[in-house]
Amino acid sequence: MDQTELKGALHSEESALDIKRRRLLTGVSAVVGGVGVAFLATPFIKSWSPSARAESAGAPVTVDISKLKLGEMITVDWRGRPVYIVNRSDDMVAQLTLVNNDDELDDDLKDPESDNSLQPERAKNGLRSFEGHEQLVVLEGVCTHLGCPPAFRPEVAPADLGEDWKGGFYCPCHNSKFDLAGRVLSGSPAATNLPVPPYGFIDEHTIVVGIEGEEA
Ligand code: FES
Repeated sequence: MDQTELKGALHSEESALDIKRRRLLTGVSAVVGGVGVAFLATPFIKSWSPSARAESAGAPVTVDISKLKLGEMITVDWRGRPVYIVNRSDDMVAQLTLVNNDDELDDDLKDPESDNSLQPERAKNGLRSFEGHEQLVVLEGVCTHLGCPPAFRPEVAPADLGEDWKGGFYCPCHNSKFDLAGRVLSGSPAATNLPVPPYGFIDEHTIVVGIEGEEA
């Protein structure tokens, strides 16, 4: 092979190597690019998926009430709203029963029979509770006037609420008052009783808010 032929052969060998190198670099770039896209895409893919929190936002809430003492209230979150669960004492139930038997009931309460208020049919009674579970009342803690959360005020005749106060819920925004069954007192700006959400008993110590469950 003369010198010219030798140069030609070397040149074509280098060209072949260059092509291989270029192909290799292109492949590596594509892989790196793909990984980069994968890293970049991850947060977006995550944000497309509904979070567990969002998924559970409208789901029923199971509540253990085994430690809820007589006269006490716990608050749970259901659909972003507070739900009050009160274990009324015998005195509280007796007081409500007394009020329910009072001839003046219609004067004291705006909707004593809960005709214009929201509740499951089996909670549409003077205690707004389920038969066999008269002590327990479950209420949405959202004032029916403009939506403030009423405060649980179980004490009788406290100085700030006056001597006629028999215990109940007080909304400080515009002074709406509700009895221990969530019924709105006359003279309040709220027009209807606190809603009773759908709920049910899974067993004696467990209730589920958001759906009518099995009876204990
Ligand atoms: S929001 Fe409760 S009284 Fe107005």
